[in-house]
Amino acid sequence: MAPALNEGLAKRGFNTKVDKLLHILEERHNSPSTSIPMSVSYHSLTTDLITSYCFAESTNTLDIPNFSHPLLEGVQEVVKGLWVQRYFPFINRLAMGLPKSMLLRLLPEFKGFVEMQEGFSTKITELRKEFPEGFNKVDHETVYHHLIEPKNQARPTMKSLVSEAFTLVIAGSDTVAHACTLGTFYVLKEAHIRRKLTEELEEAWPDKGTPMSYAKLEKLPYLSAVIKETLRFSIGVVHPLPRIIGNETPAIAGLKLPPGTIVGMSALFLHMNPDVFEDPFTFNPDRWLAEDTAEMIHDLAPFSKGPRMCIGFGLAWCELYLIFANIFRNWT
Ligand code: HEM
Repeated sequence: MAPALNEGLAKRGFNTKVDKLLHILEERHNSPSTSIPMSVSYHSLTTDLITSYCFAESTNTLDIPNFSHPLLEGVQEVVKGLWVQRYFPFINRLAMGLPKSMLLRLLPEFKGFVEMQEGFSTKITELRKEFPEGFNKVDHETVYHHLIEPKNQARPTMKSLVSEAFTLVIAGSDTVAHACTLGTFYVLKEAHIRRKLTEELEEAWPDKGTPMSYAKLEKLPYLSAVIKETLRFSIGVVHPLPRIIGNETPAIAGLKLPPGTIVGMSALFLHMNPDVFEDPFTFNPDRWLAEDTAEMIHDLAPFSKGPRMCIGFGLAWCELYLIFANIFRNWT
């Protein structure tokens, strides 16, 4: 899996994109007037990657000054409103029934959502019109190659194609960017972590001018430990993930619940459990270098588990290795 993913990322211009980010950071980090939050920089990089995976064409938000691309701003707006949508879904249904002008007058916070919806509809309409020639421009398959014309299945409606675009672009950009931001913060905060990480990278990757493959990076023990600890801390999806109790579901915490009951839990409670993770609120990659990490590995569930677990977990691991390695190999 690793070499295929690495090759996939190479085709989607990962190294060019990460080099572009490194170049922007190099140019701008020295002055408070030109500096930019790492969270926004990472979000720009991950958005450019996931849009390339989805639509064959990257949004290239890294090329926009201050990364102020409407898609990035839209995702941030939508993410802020997810709490309301999650707990009061009828608000969303009501809002979507209103004409655009009325909606934006009554609920201006839906602006980002509406703009993203229009942007995705336009993009998908174009892709549908150009299918398959439009996709032949690139030498890699994309998610929408398969969604627009699925094999042995009915063609999805425009509405569902747009909904998928929301899920993929938000789930595939904000989560990885948040993990990168949080990991970078802790590595820079703790001098000993930064030193150990950069020493390992320098030794394994002496010529930083030549790209290093994911297959080699994932064998580095300290880099792997930093990424696991980052995923333990970052909690990509904070709210409880709902599941419905079935006839065969075993007792949960000693309680046998009736079938049909909706239950949910956030990974936060697993990741901060002091019985499994000693001193859980300390960012400590060394815990992952212990001889026996089986119990911790079992309880590390940033991507959830089971049939509905994150479909992008392989891509996420690959991005995290390549981003951390490139950032800390170049910024020592
Ligand atoms: C550090 C990065 C990431 C984290 C922590 C993360 C976490 C999660 C979690 C917890 C879920 C919910 C699973 C459940 O309900 O059990 C999820 C779903 C999902 N994720 Fe990720 N994710 C990450 C990266 C990605 C990436 C890169 C993609 C790009 C393809 C992606 C696409 C999705 C999609 C499409 C779903 C919905 C799956 C479904 O409903 O069946 N995620 N993710």
